[in-house]
Amino acid sequence: MTTAVTTPATGGNGARSAVAASARKLVKAYGSGETRVVALDHVDVEIARGAFTAIMGPSGSGKSTLMHCLAGLDSVTEGEVRVGGQEITRLKEKKLTRLRRDRIGFIFQAFNLLPTLDALENITLPMDIAGRKPDKAWLENVIATVNLEGRLKHRPSELSGGQQQRVAVARALAARPEIIFADEPTGNLDSRSGAEMLRFLRRSVDELGQTIVMVTHDPVAAAYSDRVLYLADGRIVDEMDSPTAEAVLDRMLRLAEDVPGADGTHGSAS
Ligand SMILES: Nc1ncnc2c1ncn2[C@@H]1O[C@H](COP(=O)(O)OP(=O)(O)OP(=O)(O)O)[C@@H](O)[C@H]1O
Ligand SMILES: [Mg+2]
Repeated sequence: MTTAVTTPATGGNGARSAVAASARKLVKAYGSGETRVVALDHVDVEIARGAFTAIMGPSGSGKSTLMHCLAGLDSVTEGEVRVGGQEITRLKEKKLTRLRRDRIGFIFQAFNLLPTLDALENITLPMDIAGRKPDKAWLENVIATVNLEGRLKHRPSELSGGQQQRVAVARALAARPEIIFADEPTGNLDSRSGAEMLRFLRRSVDELGQTIVMVTHDPVAAAYSDRVLYLADGRIVDEMDSPTAEAVLDRMLRLAEDVPGADGTHGSAS
């Protein structure tokens, strides 16, 4: 698919392209010389607007790095990243900060909550910084969905890991950004809270046209998405539309069998 993207999306109800974010020939390398690590190796990807995309792959395959680069949180070594049609890799820090603040929600693998703020203040922080008033009904809906009504006055240190994660998720959802990137948003939740969270993410895509990109290691979580991208060694090695948990698990097992660099399609696993 080579959709030309020229109209920058505004975050309002204006004209929007079908692609929310994309990367072309994206390379991200850390360090230099002997310690150089190529975390992303010429990745081409298009994230469909209004869709729920899952990113899977082994630990260290570049999932978090890809999300950070697509969200303008990390510089790139080579290649191009677009958000709503706008090339962001050469943006000056100030513009990039504004783009992140106004158009992107990020749920970090480590939640990145501010320790001195209580849960509610953490949730509304991005909007407070942007000088925007939260939509009260929506905020209440988000807080109820993540089940935090009774914990809004607690600071992160007074919350369990799962509760902190739910605060991080609520923070990303509260401002209704153009794209939400979620790095293992259910990693610290029990299965019931996790399922509730995933249903909520799914609903925000179906009913509000939210765009979500989620990293997960869990085939059941991936099955909530519209499309799964598989990363290995910094490359997208496979993808699957309309995934089911069984199909994702099956694909994961087969990809795990593949010996990197081998010519055949399968490794030596019996
Ligand atoms: N700041 C950094 N400096 C050096 N190397 C890094 C840095 N951040 C990530 N890497 C390396 O880049 C590669 C990709 O890391 P990344 O965090 O994207 O993996 P991941 O797929 O998210 O893994 P996980 O599932 O464990 O979270 C890894 O080999 C990692 O060691
Ligand atoms: Mg990661």
